[in-house]
Amino acid sequence: MCGIVGYIGTCQAAPVLLDGLSKLEYRGYDSAGIAVYDGNKIQMQKAMGRLKVLEEMTQNGATLPGTVGIGHTRWATHGAPSDLNAHPHFNKDHSIVVVHNGIIENYLKLKKKLMSKGYEFLSETDTEVIAHMLDYYYNGDPLATITKVMHRMEGSYALGILFRDYPDEVYAVRKDSPLIVGTSKSGNLIASDVPAVLKYTRDVYFLENEEIVKLTRDGLHFYNIDEEELEKEATHIDWDMNAAEKGGYEHFMLKEMHEQPKAVKDTLTPRIKNGDVVIEELGMTDEEIRAIRKIFIVACGSAYHTGVTSKYIFEKLARIPVEVDLASEFRYRDPILPENTLVVIVSQSGETADTLAALRLAKEKGVRTLGIVNVVGSSIAREADNVMYTWAGPEIAVATTKAYSTQLIAQYLLAMKFAKVRGTVSQNDFDAMIQSLERLPEQISLLLSHKENVQRFANRYLAAEHVFFIGRGIDYAISMEGSLKLKEISYIHSEAYAAGELKHGTISLIEDGRLVVAVLTQPELYKKTISNIQEVKTRGAFVMAVTTVGNTEVEKVADYVVYLPETNPIFANSLAIIPLQLFGYYVSIGRGLDVDKPRNLAKSVTVE
Ligand code: F6R
Repeated sequence: MCGIVGYIGTCQAAPVLLDGLSKLEYRGYDSAGIAVYDGNKIQMQKAMGRLKVLEEMTQNGATLPGTVGIGHTRWATHGAPSDLNAHPHFNKDHSIVVVHNGIIENYLKLKKKLMSKGYEFLSETDTEVIAHMLDYYYNGDPLATITKVMHRMEGSYALGILFRDYPDEVYAVRKDSPLIVGTSKSGNLIASDVPAVLKYTRDVYFLENEEIVKLTRDGLHFYNIDEEELEKEATHIDWDMNAAEKGGYEHFMLKEMHEQPKAVKDTLTPRIKNGDVVIEELGMTDEEIRAIRKIFIVACGSAYHTGVTSKYIFEKLARIPVEVDLASEFRYRDPILPENTLVVIVSQSGETADTLAALRLAKEKGVRTLGIVNVVGSSIAREADNVMYTWAGPEIAVATTKAYSTQLIAQYLLAMKFAKVRGTVSQNDFDAMIQSLERLPEQISLLLSHKENVQRFANRYLAAEHVFFIGRGIDYAISMEGSLKLKEISYIHSEAYAAGELKHGTISLIEDGRLVVAVLTQPELYKKTISNIQEVKTRGAFVMAVTTVGNTEVEKVADYVVYLPETNPIFANSLAIIPLQLFGYYVSIGRGLDVDKPRNLAKSVTVE
């Protein structure tokens, strides 16, 4: 996720672009850049770091005169944050310049072709490929050139483009990445999101997939991929700036929960090719995968909970013993790491101090390390032997939701890959798993669309003092995350228990009206957990159950049931966590708390 802007009009472009980028910094903030055209020369300035570095460097835009321009704020995907990888990117003679939000999945293939034609690359980005492709196909007609390039790119993109031959035009196009067009008296604008243009206009056009727009000083022209001109209607935006930054959602957490279908899809789709799991970045040969004798998954907080889930999955599918460790414990317990051990380090930020220290310890001990990381170029991403990125985009809310969901996906894929190579899964089962995985984004959307039901239930429990989450196997791992989500943002004490363990002490805390959330997604454990629900029910508990559609048996013992769509039980966490995230969220806002910034917490914990 990055932010792009573009402007053409009667004002100086650079200050307009910088102002627009400042409203998009939530989409990425590791580097920023702008390119401005004064009719003679396209000048560019870009820099690693927050936008303020660029603002200082350009004296708030004064060093780049001109009334036409494009800009970018980056959240690194291909290539670590650096001056060179920052956007915009030029073609070879600086006659075409591009900013890009998205991921070009076939960029390596395209890059190879361009290199064979003599093109040289300055950056590691997929975007530079687009600049050179535009150069390669340029025939004097920007529209025809853009559509030719669109036909050759796979993946997602929102692009802003300037052509030196056309000083009075800005081009933009989108596919699977957002792009809006704003029109005002002082000029026309493009942006990844509405907040960037609100200062100038409230009338915006939402570009659809594979639509192209040409902006001139006094007009907008929309085209489809066949270069046919389109009529589009403007939408009037009523949101205030605060709501607009959150895409119209009340909080970042709610917005990010709603981004989960896309985040899951983005993490999944590029790694499923022709029915197989392809993890190019793994850097391990089949021989090396077969040689692995033990896996450690090391992480903190929610990331640790994804590890607890994947222990069950790795052991079941790939038959490799897995230990899951809290990073803060792992680093001080002198772990025994035999030869042919793989240490998987899971972290959204890639900067968590304990997790980073655990990675360094594993490296010192000479075992292979793999990072599952969201922030490209972060310390863990740089230091792990290999890194598998989750494509959740920047997560702003302190309580993780979309990064958690993508960490699960990365680990499912890894377990499936290992199982396939080690021959511990049948082709039929593997094919069925791929199908289940591909259905997840849509199923997550469905669960999110029923959020009002969870809200109604949550409103009844705003005054709860203690809540218990119970489940067995993977359902225990889900309970851990459900419990953390509730307590960290609602400040209600909650605990997760392996359902069978409750009677060994904790059951004495169950009394009249105590809320118990039971998770039942594993068919072979349904009956066992139902017995545990009965145990708390007879002691007065009020039970909310989260289970798979069809398991109506639960209704006999639970007071309130949330049904999940059918999936392969090993992937059930991806669905069951949605109502639990929503529950925590609605209890928190019902109690009037600052859900995006809960007290005492930081997004990235860089102290041990
Ligand atoms: C909880 C949460 C934290 C993080 C933990 C690890 O909602 O977000 O528990 O999961 O602090 O952070 P990363 O993944 O950045 O290492």
